[in-house]
Amino acid sequence: MKIETVTVVGSGQMGSGIAQVCAVAGYETYVTDLSGAQLEKSEAGIRKRLARNVEKGRMTSQEIDGVWERLHFVQDARKAAGQSQLIIEAAIEKLDVKTEIFKMLDEAAPEEAILTSNTSSIPITTLAAATKRPPKVAGMHFMNPVPVMKLVELIAGLQTSQETLAAIREVAESVGKQVVVAQKDMPGFIVNRLLMPSINEAVWLLHEGIGSARDIDKGARLGLNHPMGPLTLADFIGLDTCLFILEVLYEGYGGDPRFRPCPLLKQMVGAGHLGRKVGRGFYEY
Ligand SMILES: NC(=O)c1ccc[n+]([C@@H]2O[C@H](COP(=O)([O-])OP(=O)(O)OC[C@H]3O[C@@H](n4cnc5c(N)ncnc54)[C@H](O)[C@@H]3O)[C@@H](O)[C@H]2O)c1
Repeated sequence: MKIETVTVVGSGQMGSGIAQVCAVAGYETYVTDLSGAQLEKSEAGIRKRLARNVEKGRMTSQEIDGVWERLHFVQDARKAAGQSQLIIEAAIEKLDVKTEIFKMLDEAAPEEAILTSNTSSIPITTLAAATKRPPKVAGMHFMNPVPVMKLVELIAGLQTSQETLAAIREVAESVGKQVVVAQKDMPGFIVNRLLMPSINEAVWLLHEGIGSARDIDKGARLGLNHPMGPLTLADFIGLDTCLFILEVLYEGYGGDPRFRPCPLLKQMVGAGHLGRKVGRGFYEY
C-alpha cells in the first residue's frame, strides 16, 4: 500500500505542525478538529510559519501554493479518514476521547489504513484494543515544535506488525525526520522516560535547596552540554503536563520511586504556576 493521503485528527499545537510537515512533504493532507475556530487558528498559524519560510529563502512561493492545494481543513474526520491510508491522531491527551476517536477511525478508514497516535503517555496497546486492526495501530510521537524538532519516536503496541512500523518509518523519514523505535509499549516510551525523571530530579535539587533554578539549569547547559536547562524546559512544556506524565510513569511502573513526582512540582501546579503559558513557572516571563 502506498501512503499518499494522511488525515491528522486534532488541529492544536501538535496536529497543526504534523499537518504542515506532511503537506510540505507532498502528502494530500486533511486536518480535522471538533472546533471550527481551532481549525481557523491552525490555518492562520501554518500560513504564518510558511510565509516565514519564504522570507528566509527556505521555500519558494510556488512551493507554498502547492502546499495549499494539498492541505485541507475539515470538521468531518470520518470522511477524511475514509480517503486516507494513514491517520495520525493528535487530539487532547484523554483516554476516553482517544478511545472514541480510534473506534470511529476503525469504522471510517479503509481496511488497509494505518492508525497512529501522537500520545505522550497513553498505551498504544489500549488504543489498538478499541479497533479491529491492532497490527495496524502504532505510535508516532512527534516532538514540539514539530516543524523544528528532528525526531519522531515510533511505538510498537503489543500487536503492531513489522510492516506497519516499516510503513510509518518511511513516512516519518519522508517528512524530514529521524526515527527511534520503542520496541515495547511501556510508559514514557523512550524519550519521556529519559526526560521526565531528569526534570523531576532538577525539581528535587531545587526543593532540597541544593541549587538555585538558574544554577541547576546552568549546570545542565554548560556541564552536560544540554541546549536548555531542565527547569527552563519544564516551564516550556508546562508543569501540569510534566506532572501528569510523571504520574503516568509512577503508576505505570507500579509506584517505582524513580518516578515519584517531587512535592514541589505538585505544589507549583496547585498554585497555578504552570510555566510559560501562564507567565510564571520556575521563572517569570
Ligand atoms: N504539546 C506537546 O509538547 C506535545 C508533545 C508530544 C506529544 N503531544 C501529544 O499530542 C497530542 C495533542 O497535544 P497538543 O499539545 O497539540 O494539544 P492541543 O490542546 O493544542 O490540541 C488538541 C486539539 O484536539 C482537539 N480535539 C479534542 N477532541 C477532539 C476530537 N474528539 N476530535 C478531533 N479533535 C479533537 C481540540 O479541539 C484541540 O484543538 C496529545 O496527545 C499530547 O499528549 C504533545
